[in-house]
Formats: sequence, C-alpha cells, structure tokens
Amino acid sequence: MTRPTDEEKSIQHHYRLIEALSESERRYRELVNNLKEVVFQTDAQGLWTFLNPAWFEVTGFSVEESMNTLFLDYVYPDDRELNMERFKPLIERKKEYCRHVIRYRHKNGGFRWIEVFARLTLDHAGAVQGTTGTLTDITERKQAEEEAEQLQLKLLQKQKLESLGVLAGGIAHDFNNLLAAIMGHAAMAERKLPGQSMALQKHMQAIVSSSEKAADLCRQMLAYSGQGHLVMQTVDLSTLIEGILNIMEVTMNKGVILKLSLTEQLPGIEADPSQVQQVVMNLVTNANEAIDKRSGVIAIRTGVTFASKDYLNQCLHSDEAREGYFVFVEVSDTGCGMDAQTMKKVFDPFFTTKFTGRGLGMSAILGIVRRHHGALKAYSEKGQGSTFRVLFPAMNYVGNDQVHAESRPLSRYGAGVVLVVDDEEIIRDMAAMMLADLGIDEVLTASDGKEATEIYRRDAHRIALVLLDLTMPRMDGEETFRQLRMINPDVKVILSSGYSEQSVQDRFAGKRLFGFLQKPYTPEAMQALVEQALTADKGESPL
Ligand SMILES: Nc1ncnc2c1ncn2[C@@H]1O[C@H](COP(=O)(O)OP(=O)(O)O)[C@@H](O)[C@H]1O
Ligand SMILES: [Mg+2]
Repeated sequence: MTRPTDEEKSIQHHYRLIEALSESERRYRELVNNLKEVVFQTDAQGLWTFLNPAWFEVTGFSVEESMNTLFLDYVYPDDRELNMERFKPLIERKKEYCRHVIRYRHKNGGFRWIEVFARLTLDHAGAVQGTTGTLTDITERKQAEEEAEQLQLKLLQKQKLESLGVLAGGIAHDFNNLLAAIMGHAAMAERKLPGQSMALQKHMQAIVSSSEKAADLCRQMLAYSGQGHLVMQTVDLSTLIEGILNIMEVTMNKGVILKLSLTEQLPGIEADPSQVQQVVMNLVTNANEAIDKRSGVIAIRTGVTFASKDYLNQCLHSDEAREGYFVFVEVSDTGCGMDAQTMKKVFDPFFTTKFTGRGLGMSAILGIVRRHHGALKAYSEKGQGSTFRVLFPAMNYVGNDQVHAESRPLSRYGAGVVLVVDDEEIIRDMAAMMLADLGIDEVLTASDGKEATEIYRRDAHRIALVLLDLTMPRMDGEETFRQLRMINPDVKVILSSGYSEQSVQDRFAGKRLFGFLQKPYTPEAMQALVEQALTADKGESPL
C-alpha cells in the first residue's frame, strides 16, 4: 500500500468536511421541520423567504402557496395596524428584537392567536436584509386564560352581589320599618289636623310622599339583595303585563309610543307577580328615560323560547338556570342607547348615568331574576336604542314539537279524556298544558258548572276524569259534582280549591270524591294525582 499523497489527503479532508456539513444541515433541517413553532424568514420587502412545515399546521396555508407573498396579508386584518406599530422599534433599530401577541388568519376564515418573536437580519455592511423569528400558536392558552378571566369575573360579581346584597338587604329591612312608622304617623297626624291648616297639611303630605319614595327605594334594594318574602304563583306573563298597562301609560313621556306584542297562551311561570311587575316597570321606566323628551317607541314583547346552555352562558343568569324553555319579556326602546363601558356596569348597584338616578332599577331586576332561576340579556347601541330580555323558566313546557313527539308513547291511559272545569281561563290553560305534558291525548274545558254538565252528558263515555274547581259563578263545584253524579254515579272527580283540604273534606264527606288538589298546585302534585286517578280501579279513592 502506498501512502496517500498530500493531494489525496486534502481531497479526503474536503469530502469529510462536506459530509459533516450535510449531516449538520440535515440535523438542523430535521430540527426546524419538527418544531411546533413556525420558523420564518422574510426579505426586506416583507415577503416570506422561509417557512417551516409548522406554518401549514398553524394557519392552514401551505408553505408553497405562501412563499414570496407578503407576510402582512396573513396577519388578521383588524390587527395589521397594531402589528406594524409593534414592529416599529425594530425597523427604527431602537430594539434588538420584538415580541408581541397578535392574530394571524387561518385559511378556514378564522384566526389564531400568535406570539411573534422577530429580529432583523443584517448583511455584512449592516444593511437590513429582512427579518427572522418564530410564530407560536397560543390560541388554546389564550382561550384558557379568557375562560379563567370570565370565571374570575363571575366570581367577583357573585361575591360583590353577596356582600352588597347583605348590606342592602339589612339597610332596606330596617329602613322599611322606620319608614312604615313615619308614614303611619304622618298619615294619622294629617287626618287629625284641623281642616283649615292648609300649610301644615302640605307639609304632612310632603312627608308621606317622600316616605313613599324612600319605601320604593327600599323595595328595590330588597329585591336586589334577594331577600324579602316571595309569594310564588303561576303567572301568565302576558296577562300580568296587560294588567299594568295603565300604570305604564301614565308614567310615559308625551312623545313616547308604547307598542305591545303579547303572545297569548304562554306557558306559566312560577313567580311572585309583584316582583315580575317590578322587573317590567323598571325596564319600561328606563326605556322611557332613555327616550327622554324626544319622541320614540317602546316595544314590549313576550314569548317562549328555548335557551341552550350556550345561550344561557351569554346571559347574566342564576346558577340554577338550566337549559330548556323560558318565557321571556323583551323591552326595546329607540332611546339614547349605551356604549360598551356603560353596558358593563348597568347591573352594578348604585351605578347611574342620570342626574337624579339611583342606580337600583337594573340591580333589582338582576336580584329578582336570580331568585326566579331566570336569565337576562341586554343589547344596546349608542345613539340607537337598547333591548333588554328577561327570561323565566317555563313551567312544564317541552315545546310544541316535543309535545307531539312525546305524547304518543306516553299515552298509557288509552282514550282517557280529561275535563277541566274552572272559571279562570289561565287555570284552564295551565291545567290543560300540564295534562298534555303528562301524555293525555285530549283535554276538554268548561268555564262553569252548567257547561261542564252539558259536556259530560254528551261525552260521559269518553271522559275518564273531571278536574273541578270549587268556587265558580252560576253553578259551584259542589252542585256540579251532584249533577255529574246523577249522570254517572261512578264519575271520577278531583276537586281543586284554594280552601284547605280539611274544610273541603268536611263538605264532601261520604261523596266519593276521588281526590283533592290544593290551589295553587305544582305540576308535580297535579300530575301525580291525575296519574293515580287514571290508573286506579273504579271507586278507589285516597280521600
Ligand atoms: N333602556 C336604557 N337605555 C339606555 N341606558 C340605560 C337603559 N336602561 C338602563 N340604562 C343605563 O343603566 C343605568 C342604570 O339603570 P338603573 O339601575 O335603572 O338606575 P337609574 O335608572 O336610577 O339610573 C342608567 O343610569 C343608564 O345609564
Ligand atoms: Mg332606572
């Protein structure tokens, strides 16, 4: 073997160098290609000159189609200005590098949150050749942060609500008692004043009317605090609003037109009517004040809607609010509207933008909504107007489609028709709805005993059960019951009444009444009893 010449040695060395170089190049390429971060390079014009495959993973644009195109085209349009601003110190050579968060477009039309890290690339003479750096997709992190922030905000809101609620409730309660004494004594004193002392009487009246205003404030505070006694009933929201139309109209400014579209036969809600009234009045008062002395329209709308979990999350809602059907009232106005800043604070107690405002109306609404397991949503545009929607859980309502879909398999009572007799239309409608919910195929209704007897005479063979109200005009429940028994001694009757069960039992002793339903009844109570009646053997009675 001959020893390699110097020339051969040099060539060998060269090859080894090239090999090592390509090995190192391969290693770097593999490293860059496998990074989750985008590694980029642009030229001085801002055109992409290098992108690793992560680019496609992050933005959905292929590396090929993106090469030699302008990087700024990929920045989310809303963020382009901001992006250039952040790059400025770099371009002006005031900083070595820049790091900021902006959005990049995704090919699917959305965007990704990107943390940009970039520095300038310079040639030997120090002239700018372009930029190089990384883009890190932090969308998930950003979302998690936002969610945590939302949660924190909600928690804070809740704590604020709780502590302020206790305070407001406590004050309101004590003041209420004091005010009651002031008002009472003032009224008594006024009465005892000799007729001619007009001046004194005026003073007394001023005391009374101021006390009334103060009592009203107490009421709002109590509502906000979620304290105070509630009297729950089944309430038809449309009927309730019709009932306070007069009061609303007198409080309205001259140029304001009130437009109503109230849905008939709404499902009931379980609510304290005076509190629901307070909600509507507060909304309408604000709407009226938002229109002020100009002319405008206030529209009040009621309806029933399905609220999904997502929808509820977009609302301010009570912790107990569950996905399902809600009855809502919506109050829109063409008034001054609110900017985003104001919108954020509307429900804060004592927040007001009005000179003589108290800032308790909306907080009271919030308190009431929470106590009724409801939700509420606000929408507003500055200068255009506002819309507030308050939702209450619908009682026993599964939606029209579902009533039909579910009533068939549920109908285990054969052709059991139920006759509902009540002079109150809302009670009849509500009972009919509860029965439909139970799977009863057909419900007949009668508004008094006479009509009930006629229907029963005609359809006794089909009617499996009669739900009978005790107090009715023309022919009361007791007489109706007697008439029905003359037609069919085995008639199955459930009596419902606001009177206590005991007093009714005394009156109907030995008359084979199937059952008794204390008014107001919960759907559960009525459904349990009806189910019992329809499945029980003839003559068997729990009473
Ligand atoms: N319909 C509305 N249009 C415009 N702003 C409203 C409306 N409803 C409420 N606001 C804003 O919310 C604030 C708080 O309302 P509220 O709690 O009723 O207190 P007040 O009416 O005493 O100011 C108002 O001062 C107003 O800025
Ligand atoms: Mg108000």
